[in-house]
Amino acid sequence: MGKTKTTFFCQNCGSQHAKWTGQCGVCNEWNTIVEEVVQKEEKRAWKPAKSFSPPVVPLTIAAIELNPEARITTNNTELDTVLGGGLVQGSVLLLGGEPGVGKSTLLLQVALQMHQKVLYVSGEESQSQIKMRAERLQEKNDNCFVLTSTNTQEIFKHIATVQPEVLVIDSIQTLHTNTIDAAPGSISQIRETAAELIKFAKETATPVLLIGHINKEGHIAGPKILEHMVDVVLQFEGDKNYTYRILRSQKNRFGSTAALGIYEMLSDGLREVSNPSEILISKKDVDLSGTAIAATLEGARPLMIEVQALVSTAVYGTPQRSTTGYNLKRLHMILAVLEKRAGFKLAAKDVFLNITGGIQVADPAIDLAVVAAILSSNQDLAISPSVCFAAEVGLAGEIRPVSKIDQRILEAEKLGYTTIVASKYNKIASKNHQIKLLLVGKIEEAFATLFA
Ligand code: TYD
Ligand code: MG
Repeated sequence: MGKTKTTFFCQNCGSQHAKWTGQCGVCNEWNTIVEEVVQKEEKRAWKPAKSFSPPVVPLTIAAIELNPEARITTNNTELDTVLGGGLVQGSVLLLGGEPGVGKSTLLLQVALQMHQKVLYVSGEESQSQIKMRAERLQEKNDNCFVLTSTNTQEIFKHIATVQPEVLVIDSIQTLHTNTIDAAPGSISQIRETAAELIKFAKETATPVLLIGHINKEGHIAGPKILEHMVDVVLQFEGDKNYTYRILRSQKNRFGSTAALGIYEMLSDGLREVSNPSEILISKKDVDLSGTAIAATLEGARPLMIEVQALVSTAVYGTPQRSTTGYNLKRLHMILAVLEKRAGFKLAAKDVFLNITGGIQVADPAIDLAVVAAILSSNQDLAISPSVCFAAEVGLAGEIRPVSKIDQRILEAEKLGYTTIVASKYNKIASKNHQIKLLLVGKIEEAFATLFA
């Protein structure tokens, strides 16, 4: 191998430097300069048998022939939904997530569920470790090959003999290519190995699924450019203490990013949760104060979520406020609104708020259920379990409209709720539902009826 030529780049502004410095002289950011290997294309590990010829003449949109992307089903309904109908031939998917969230489990499970010939390459686990995991998953696919390797040249050699229809790499940060000297996981190794795999995917129309580690800020480790290079970026999320996992799409060149997949991590792998609302709401025999149900939307998916609040007299001078699954600043705002606009005396009370199931909710439509749960706990009056809420609360104590109200109403009705409290400013398209709509403009109006 000849002497490799390297240059230094700033990860922030992209400027090029002759030597390493702690601070970028162009954008003044600290610690962003990294060494990159300048590499010629033909040295890449993936060498196709026949040359790949992309169309070279510009065409008008009308003149371009449409060949509908052939989708390969993963036999995993949640993943297929998130992808917008399955894997696209030759597409490259990047799955990111916290350590231990279940990335390897998900992709091994998918590899075992698929009918295609799959090569699962792990740089992290030995073949017998993967076998042990597969035993737990209790899935069988005689067409799933497992390889432990971290070298792309070696991986491509095995690809040539196995001829897989789908390739899984666990993980991109463990790979290295011989054309570069840098350590696995470094910026230039990730960039180069990803480029080789992307080239392979495009030239052979083989879908490639990459697992990516995330750094402490929650972004996929490595250069930002990795996310630009791949076709689909998925994020696997979940709270360590709960079994629910959410698969979100951050980028999808072949579909919407609004779709969402929900799984439950069980002892025998990830179970698809097709009706999340039913399990997120705790079943109880007696009406307890302090709980309220919100009709929220996660991406495009309606989700009924239970909000629990506990309001009690503060033991210490300064009242405590704490939340799980809800923004603490937003709770402070809601408490201020209740105090100032609706005349509830909460300043000397501890307020604890909990979204059940360990789910993080960002949808503002949960506000009214938060208010309801707090007031229910404060007054010690239970809200009927057949009532749900879908509205945002404004600073003036007004009940504000939320997006896609019809979808929320439909979901609430489907799950057997008899009343939904929403804003009177919402434009509701459908008229023929059985569920009772309680449309209000102010907090007091809503609770005059509910606690009457
Ligand atoms: P893993 O897929 O190894 O996570 P990642 O690749 O994202 O780091 O998942 C590891 C966790 O999943 C581990 O803590 C145990 C749990 N798990 C189950 O609960 N059930 C199972 O069947 C499997 C295989 C794992
Ligand atoms: Mg793993």
